Amino acid sequence: MDTKQRDPETRQQPEATSSGALPSTMRAIVQDEFGQAGDVLRMEQNEPLPEIAGGEVLVKVRAAGVDRGVWHLIAGLPYMVRIAGFGIRRPKLRVPGFDFAGRVERVGNGVTSLKPGDEVFGIARGSFAEYACAVEDKVVATPRNLPPEQAAAIPISGLTALQAVRDQAKLKPGERVLILGASGGVGSFATQIARDFGAEVTGVCSTDKAEMVRELGADHVIDYTRGSLADTGEKYDAILDIGGNRSLSELRRLLKPKGRLVIVGGEDAGKLLGGTDRQLRAMLLSPFVSQKLRAFVSSENGKDIAALKELVDSGRLKPVIDRTFPLEQASEAVEYVAEGRASGKVVLDTRPS
Ligand SMILES: NC(=O)c1ccc[n+]([C@@H]2O[C@H](COP(=O)([O-])OP(=O)(O)OC[C@H]3O[C@@H](n4cnc5c(N)ncnc54)[C@H](OP(=O)(O)O)[C@@H]3O)[C@@H](O)[C@H]2O)c1
Repeated sequence: MDTKQRDPETRQQPEATSSGALPSTMRAIVQDEFGQAGDVLRMEQNEPLPEIAGGEVLVKVRAAGVDRGVWHLIAGLPYMVRIAGFGIRRPKLRVPGFDFAGRVERVGNGVTSLKPGDEVFGIARGSFAEYACAVEDKVVATPRNLPPEQAAAIPISGLTALQAVRDQAKLKPGERVLILGASGGVGSFATQIARDFGAEVTGVCSTDKAEMVRELGADHVIDYTRGSLADTGEKYDAILDIGGNRSLSELRRLLKPKGRLVIVGGEDAGKLLGGTDRQLRAMLLSPFVSQKLRAFVSSENGKDIAALKELVDSGRLKPVIDRTFPLEQASEAVEYVAEGRASGKVVLDTRPS
């Protein structure tokens, strides 16, 4: 996660370029302390509208994406996320959520590429609300004819998948890639993008989601609940490790001698480090073995959000939406994601129900 860029920035008066009279308050999901979503999230009916800084836009959020990263920040777990700048004792960001799709309402000083009325998607601060602030370069025009619920599902999971496939694994046509967690938020994008790069994709997921992973374009699907991955005897040019927290030695045995392991994430790895120790060990070991072992934190940038838009516009990428919850059910949506029940993505609809 890109912690620095999500921190609130110094406030300054925006240029008065509103598309019309805006309300002074909004409906928003807020939290004052870390904890389980059901315990700490509540709906505020009269939350003040956020103020934009220079280089930012105020957007009217129509839909907001929910992902594991949001759960981590709501829970304050692993504790690493607190040290990373999201608040030690209590959350710095009162309104959770980052991914959004909606409309630009107001632009701040120095914004040149966006204007009020533009239909956009991207990464904001506090997207679990009717209005949110976003820096200009994390906001892109919505893909053609894509409903906001689908556009809001794309940004963070999509750019993580894109960067994992393109920049970290550097997949080439004809290479064999194993995607652990192909049915999840990141994996459902990574499976499609790896296929688009011409790789032969083996997706790993649980029984109920196998059909969906096949429909995403995976050439082979392995059900991790029915035996070991080693049973197939296959070796891969690259592994994207998005779920399951397998040991480095198990993953290395599945790789070819010059293969690349890219650790994206994995849950249930402890409250303190949340699996970052495994990522650190991979990076420390990498110079001493023939395989390349990498872990990475996705970079939130508009260029890659625009690249995802292009993929969607050209029909090569489609977000998979499992469920859309109304904004007031944000805690149920976050818990649904945290329990691992979603196939693909979960989204909030901010319209009053
Ligand atoms: N590095 C970064 O910058 C970055 C960015 C975004 C997310 N992440 C991290 O990446 C991880 C995945 O995020 P997500 O949003 O995709 O989560 P998600 O939607 O919950 O998906 C998790 C995936 O892991 C699979 N899985 C669970 N247990 C498994 C096992 N034993 N073997 C193989 N697969 C297993 C799940 O399959 P079933 O559902 O079929 O069981 C599902 O496909 C999280 O830890 C998240 O924090 C990292």
